[in-house]
Amino acid sequence: MSYCVITSIEMKEDFLRYQAQTTPHPLAMEITGAEGSYIFDKKGNSYLDFIAGVSANSLGHKHPEVVKAIKQQLDAYMHVMVYGEYIQSPAVELTKLLASLLPDPLETTYLTNSGTEATEGAIKLAKKHTNRTQIIAANNAYHGNTQGAMSVMGFEERKQAFRPLIPDTHFIPFNDERSLNEITTKTAAVILETIQGGAGFIEPQNDYLKKVRARCNQVGALLILDEIQSGFGRTGTLFGFQNYDVIPDIIIIGKGMGGGMPVGAFTASKMLMDQLKDNPKLGHITTFGGHPVIAASCLATLKTLTSGSLINDTIKKELLFRSLLIHPLIKEIRGKGLMLALIFENEEIANHVILKSLENHLILFWLLFEKKAVRITPPLTISEDEIRKGCTVILKVLEDWESKNVN
Ligand SMILES: Cc1ncc(COP(=O)(O)O)c(C=O)c1O
Repeated sequence: MSYCVITSIEMKEDFLRYQAQTTPHPLAMEITGAEGSYIFDKKGNSYLDFIAGVSANSLGHKHPEVVKAIKQQLDAYMHVMVYGEYIQSPAVELTKLLASLLPDPLETTYLTNSGTEATEGAIKLAKKHTNRTQIIAANNAYHGNTQGAMSVMGFEERKQAFRPLIPDTHFIPFNDERSLNEITTKTAAVILETIQGGAGFIEPQNDYLKKVRARCNQVGALLILDEIQSGFGRTGTLFGFQNYDVIPDIIIIGKGMGGGMPVGAFTASKMLMDQLKDNPKLGHITTFGGHPVIAASCLATLKTLTSGSLINDTIKKELLFRSLLIHPLIKEIRGKGLMLALIFENEEIANHVILKSLENHLILFWLLFEKKAVRITPPLTISEDEIRKGCTVILKVLEDWESKNVN
């Protein structure tokens, strides 16, 4: 097949034909650049980004510290060896800094290529450590899309076509204390998102996580908290679980950790993590996990996040969103910090808000399972002026909906 320079119409056709699609209706904006809180398209439009690559661009687009660290590392070396054999300072410095920011005993980090792979590693570690097989997850949970991670996804409609998945996975309703007795001495681990994402940004209530922790201690099960979305400052603390006075045995991280680069990781005590190096050795392997360029990007992101007031400011910014987004069509604003979801009466209004806002150059997006919700997860670097500007668009499209739907 010959390759030639193509126009934008052809580019869209090629996108739909040659790049595997995940939905029948991709947004299909053709991107030419991105900087700070803005994304630019081929038509010359600039879009205010309230999504941050689905909670991934914690420092906005092309943050200078992140770009600098990546360029420096590119000039030194890229991939040199599979995970875990050579000493490469970006990965060592990153995991050491993480350990200094996490409570005991969370000390040792395994770096992976994505969040879903971190979920896989955490589940394997729990099975190996406890010598048990049962994993308990929550209804409407999302922990990734490979077959292991999908096994603990609490949404049957999206799993059915891929069964059989890994056996001995059980589901309990999130925030339901009565079902905690389903966690027993057969349970290897309970895996929960600290704040449920795809389900509609649902926070743990009434010390739920502490109660899960206590029950896990009682029966010798591990507690795995998925911090892939709630971590890296998004909810006002570096990690979401720090809001709820609980310390898990394993955390899964990713997304905002990379500053725009692909990454995942799981962290546990050194004693627990050592289970992956022996009997059998190579208990979890990856070629590219801990990649020096990605680790350099993560390190610069983490240093930047923790050296200023960005994390504290997320709560001020949340309050600003909440004060601006007052409208009869918005039934509720769920979530914490800059992990917010607008809840509408129905899916139709949510779709209208997302698509009409895009026409008005504001990027919003859906949640995985809760169709009445509109996601707001901007870069943590977003300014108050940008928040005001985006909220004005949302209120305008809501008025537009009302004017078209008066009886
Ligand atoms: C809570 C949670 N866990 C796991 C994942 C999977 O991460 P990744 O897409 O990097 O594999 C996601 C991604 O959306 C997530 O939100």
